[in-house]
Amino acid sequence: MSDHITEPIRAAGSTTGAGAPAPSDRNSLTIGADGPIVLHDVHFLEQMAHFNREKVPERQPHAKGAGAFGEFKATEDVSRYTSAALFQKSASTEMLARFSTVAGEMGSPDTWRDVRGFSLKFYTSEGNYDLVGNNTPIFFVRDPMKFPHFIRSQKRLPDSGLRDNHMQWDFWTNNPESAHQVTYLMGERGLPRTWRHMNGYGSHTYMWINAAGDKFWVKYHFHTNQGMQFFNNEEAAAMAGADADFHRRDLFDAIHRGDHPSWTLSVQIMPYADAKTYRINPFDLTKTWPHADYPLIKVGTMQLNRNPENFFAQIEQAAFSPGNTVPGIGLSPDKMLLGRAFAYNDAQRNRIGTNFHQLPVNQPKVPVNTYMFDGQMAYHHSGNAPVYASNSGDRKWADGTGPMPDSWEADGEMARSAYTLRAEDDDFSQPGILVRKVFNDDQRAKLVEQVAGSLLGGVREPVLSRAFAYWKSVDAEVGQRIERRVREGHAAKPAEGMGEG
Ligand code: HEM
Repeated sequence: MSDHITEPIRAAGSTTGAGAPAPSDRNSLTIGADGPIVLHDVHFLEQMAHFNREKVPERQPHAKGAGAFGEFKATEDVSRYTSAALFQKSASTEMLARFSTVAGEMGSPDTWRDVRGFSLKFYTSEGNYDLVGNNTPIFFVRDPMKFPHFIRSQKRLPDSGLRDNHMQWDFWTNNPESAHQVTYLMGERGLPRTWRHMNGYGSHTYMWINAAGDKFWVKYHFHTNQGMQFFNNEEAAAMAGADADFHRRDLFDAIHRGDHPSWTLSVQIMPYADAKTYRINPFDLTKTWPHADYPLIKVGTMQLNRNPENFFAQIEQAAFSPGNTVPGIGLSPDKMLLGRAFAYNDAQRNRIGTNFHQLPVNQPKVPVNTYMFDGQMAYHHSGNAPVYASNSGDRKWADGTGPMPDSWEADGEMARSAYTLRAEDDDFSQPGILVRKVFNDDQRAKLVEQVAGSLLGGVREPVLSRAFAYWKSVDAEVGQRIERRVREGHAAKPAEGMGEG
């Protein structure tokens, strides 16, 4: 053992967290070249300690995703429906989009069959507006109480840690309101070819309010200008093996080479008073509004043109919330939306930290005057201004009273209940129309194959029989074809083990 140091310490190229020149990023400090590391190698200890903390919890659902920055341009005049600054004709607003799968974890393949997340953050002149939607216009359930149960049923078994078709179908068939979304999921929309080739939807009904205070109900549709494209099962499975990050890579590479994807935003507008009498509950997230009743109205175009420079800082730490609305836009009595208005920022306080809204990617581009005070990692602060409202100093506080511009009337006794049913509020009519009128023969055949394949993957009685009944309720013929196909499969080879998830 020699304690003779042969090479001089080179001039520092990096620094410690405290900004002083770092001694070495290659060699720890030892007693002699071969000796033990000393406890006062502050730089080494700082590197190790920080490494141990460099991951944050992944998002509970929608863990695997990526995104990019861009611009939204309002090209049409919709001022008679909303006063929101970003939707005034010719306004141009910087924005961030993040696309994701729902059930897969951070390292899961992009091309597993799933619904895709479509999250948008608009840095508007009136604060951040977030629209956190999916590539489908509807959802699996309509009461937020069911959401954690739904997500767990799509994730992993408690013992083996494996995904499980039986569990998925058990949940879906016990909750028939899922039929519309499951029909989309088992159809082509479950396997978009790339994120650039899929539509996005706000899914929920939101409120728009114009300058005169008139209120409207609104649904958002972002149609891809690249055209919708899909993978088939074989292509998706091959891609999951060949490049698990295919969708992430595709978006990044496209933007990098200057091929900037864009989407056209249109909305459906329902006059405020119609909601009370419309034959479908307009706040039920498992239903669409027929375009014949409420046609699409064009609003503008969103284009993604800038990749993140740092994935962790700008995508992983991005915090979207359906509760982030701006003047001219409000929520609606959709119970799911109201449940979500709480859930997201709460998840982000846990996932990122109390002051997640102060990170550059989440910071609004307008001055902030919030009374949220101190907390871990507080960076922006109000100096020595009063920290309470009301105050006798010159710090402003909000003082709204009475009915708010984005409010609605509600009455009745407090209850735990499903929505009151209306004339066309059954769970199977709209998925039935999707299967019979929107899908063609080829798409119906693929649906039958997909559902049958999934049911053959370890789904047991009584769930199996419930699944046949579920599909016969969607469409008698499609249901029979699925049952026949599954029974043949079982006869040919008793189904055992796991499905494809
Ligand atoms: C009551 C129902 C729901 C609850 C409680 C819920 C909760 C959550 C939570 C906690 C996250 C993770 C947030 C984070 O860590 O940053 C998340 C992510 C997400 N959710 Fe939901 N969710 C619900 C329904 C929905 C619906 C209906 C949609 C689409 C229409 C949706 C779309 C998304 C998307 C796209 C993300 C990813 C956000 C991102 O890109 O960062 N969720 N959800």
